[in-house]
Amino acid sequence: MYVGEILKSLDRVPSGVPGLDDIIGGGFLPGRVYLITGPPGSGKTTMGVQFLVEGARNGEKGVFVSLVEDPRIILQDMLRYNFGLLGYVKSKTITFHDLGRILLRAEYRLTWNELFNSILQIINEEGVKRAVVDSFTSMEHLVKDPENKRWALGRFIRALQELETTTLITSEMLQGDAYTDEHYLVDGVLVIHHFMRNYQMVRALQVLKMRGVPHDSNLKRIRFTDEGIRVYNEAPF
Ligand SMILES: Nc1ncnc2c1ncn2[C@@H]1O[C@H](COP(=O)(O)OP(=O)(O)OP(=O)(O)O)[C@@H](O)[C@H]1O
Ligand SMILES: [Mg+2]
Repeated sequence: MYVGEILKSLDRVPSGVPGLDDIIGGGFLPGRVYLITGPPGSGKTTMGVQFLVEGARNGEKGVFVSLVEDPRIILQDMLRYNFGLLGYVKSKTITFHDLGRILLRAEYRLTWNELFNSILQIINEEGVKRAVVDSFTSMEHLVKDPENKRWALGRFIRALQELETTTLITSEMLQGDAYTDEHYLVDGVLVIHHFMRNYQMVRALQVLKMRGVPHDSNLKRIRFTDEGIRVYNEAPF
């Protein structure tokens, strides 16, 4: 690696999630791959879209690759936030891609490698700076060769890191302490937690890992707002 490249790696990619950059030293590292994991309805897709919108504000092209859900429905839900997503979709600065259509077709199962290559083809398009892959869980049941996951995932993440695109992958959290291959292979992991406290749902975010970046791993309170998720630099309780 040349010195210029090392210096370039000090650049940061703002996350688009208010308050998050403050606890990860200014933002994500360009070209790296990150995982957002959390329980159902915790804001994984929302944070992914906030990340793309942040780039679009600066003219950066972004792609949203949906693995299971119909992207039209995701888009419909995301348009309820006030982050001006529609304009970026109309101008094609942000594009939504539907891989679920292929994955869910019962008569034709993809291998992990075919699936990852299809994702890479979308992300590798000219000028794409930010990508979101939503969501990774349950894929084991939809692919032809579940036993090849770790190997194929390792190759996929390596290929992503060679692109100039910064990628967020979302996944569902099955158990708080059950780590999957994704957790070990990616460059950083953000975990969304929720707790019941006096009959109230309290949400919090933890930076579980962030390679190459000094960060605060304590639980931070998060809230849904009309502008998406916001992180507060305070303990949830
Ligand atoms: N202004 C808002 N607009 C839309 N959704 C909102 C808003 N405020 C809060 N929400 C909540 O956001 C949640 C959806 O978040 P999101 O879809 O990002 O979560 P997720 O973790 O991706 O969920 P899933 O596991 O179902 O994919 C909804 O449960 C909804 O109650
Ligand atoms: Mg989602």
